Amino acid sequence: MDPCEMGRDLEKVLLTEEEISQRLTEMAAEIDADYAGREILLVGVLKGAAMVMADLSRKLAHDARMDWMAVSSYGSGTKSSGVVRIIKDLDTDLTGRDVLIVEDIVDSGLTLSWLAANLRSRGPASVEIAALLRKPCEAKVQVNVKYCGFDIPGEFVVGYGLDYGERYRTLPFVGTLAPHVYA
Ligand code: IMP
Repeated sequence: MDPCEMGRDLEKVLLTEEEISQRLTEMAAEIDADYAGREILLVGVLKGAAMVMADLSRKLAHDARMDWMAVSSYGSGTKSSGVVRIIKDLDTDLTGRDVLIVEDIVDSGLTLSWLAANLRSRGPASVEIAALLRKPCEAKVQVNVKYCGFDIPGEFVVGYGLDYGERYRTLPFVGTLAPHVYA
């Protein structure tokens, strides 16, 4: 999506494409070091994590495996319902695997804490979390995000995979929307 096309919907750019790319490079180096000699199974959470997964995975020196889950805890509004439903499950048996969940954003933490517990119950060797964004002031449950890109304020953000009512996902940066969009 051409940022210019967003016109007056965009309030401000929070993280540029370059800032995101640089931080993902650092995160990939940490992950490579921590998982030396082990095979990583990256589990992306659709649809929001698509961009993070694509860019982070290509920065890894590891030849990681990849699988996807789709869960739902949001409607078209901006607040988590806390009720998580699996829409698409993994194709991979997790027994004995080192699983790294790749997420776009941790807001209340309800989705990820549920998901991590769900994956841990499947007999993996380990389950860790990598998330591009985290809103510490919105946390309702404690989630251990081992690889966190950026802590951001408690504003609703879009772009780089994140949507508002299925729009704005394809923006190459992360930004906030003008208040009239929510009205
Ligand atoms: P949580 O359960 O409140 O942590 O919410 C997790 C999910 O809600 C994320 O994976 C996103 O899909 C969505 N979400 C939370 N905050 C935002 C936001 O600021 N913009 C877009 N989606 C969000």
